[in-house]
Amino acid sequence: MTPFDFEEPIRTERVLMRLLTEADIDAVYSYQSRDDVCRYLLFEPRDRETVAAKVREHATHSRLEKDGDYLQLAVERVADGRVLGDMYITVKSAENQTLELGWTFHPDAHGQGFASECATALLRLAFDRMGAHRVIAELDPRNEGSIRLCTRLGMREEAHFREDLWFKGEWADTGVYAILDREWRALGA
Ligand SMILES: CC(C)(COP(=O)(O)OP(=O)(O)OC[C@H]1O[C@@H](n2cnc3c(N)ncnc32)[C@H](O)[C@@H]1OP(=O)(O)O)[C@@H](O)C(=O)NCCC(=O)NCCS
Repeated sequence: MTPFDFEEPIRTERVLMRLLTEADIDAVYSYQSRDDVCRYLLFEPRDRETVAAKVREHATHSRLEKDGDYLQLAVERVADGRVLGDMYITVKSAENQTLELGWTFHPDAHGQGFASECATALLRLAFDRMGAHRVIAELDPRNEGSIRLCTRLGMREEAHFREDLWFKGEWADTGVYAILDREWRALGA
């Protein structure tokens, strides 16, 4: 798999994805502090201090090469410069040429296709630029919005683990969705 250095924003039709900066802390706090947004995320709603520390940490990650390398990108709407959410891409297994995607958007930005637009651009990065073999997404199977997004992207459900996770005070399931390079090419996206 070809390593990737994040050097310039990734443009789509309506947004650009770029590295987070200190100036994004309030925007990220506005959604990461919400119960509804965090319901199926692995963390509880965050206070501003925690968001600030995370944003500073994420801003230092700009290369995808080894297992665990990640980019956490701000999604900025081109029309008004507003940060709508963030996208995550990580090297799950360099040896097996597998990347993983994640997504979180402010509820004001849901239902307009922004997450699909960003995820499609990251699939393009994964398959076309890096030469990945497989891209996955892990989710809580109760997260219908996330499942619809995976399906829209052409990902298939590959696994449904029963109560594999002690999550926010209860046992929860994990769903794994995936798309292979040849499936991506067949979509002609
Ligand atoms: C998961 C999440 C990112 C999905 O967001 P979303 O806005 O539903 O996803 P999309 O950007 O793909 O938008 C698709 C919706 O917009 C609609 N839409 C409107 N204009 C569109 C366009 N131009 N292109 C595509 N879809 C469009 C689609 O019909 C679809 O609606 P539907 O889901 O009711 O069928 C969002 O719910 C979220 O941030 N949740 C909180 C965090 C979270 O749980 N993250 C996932 C952890 S695994």
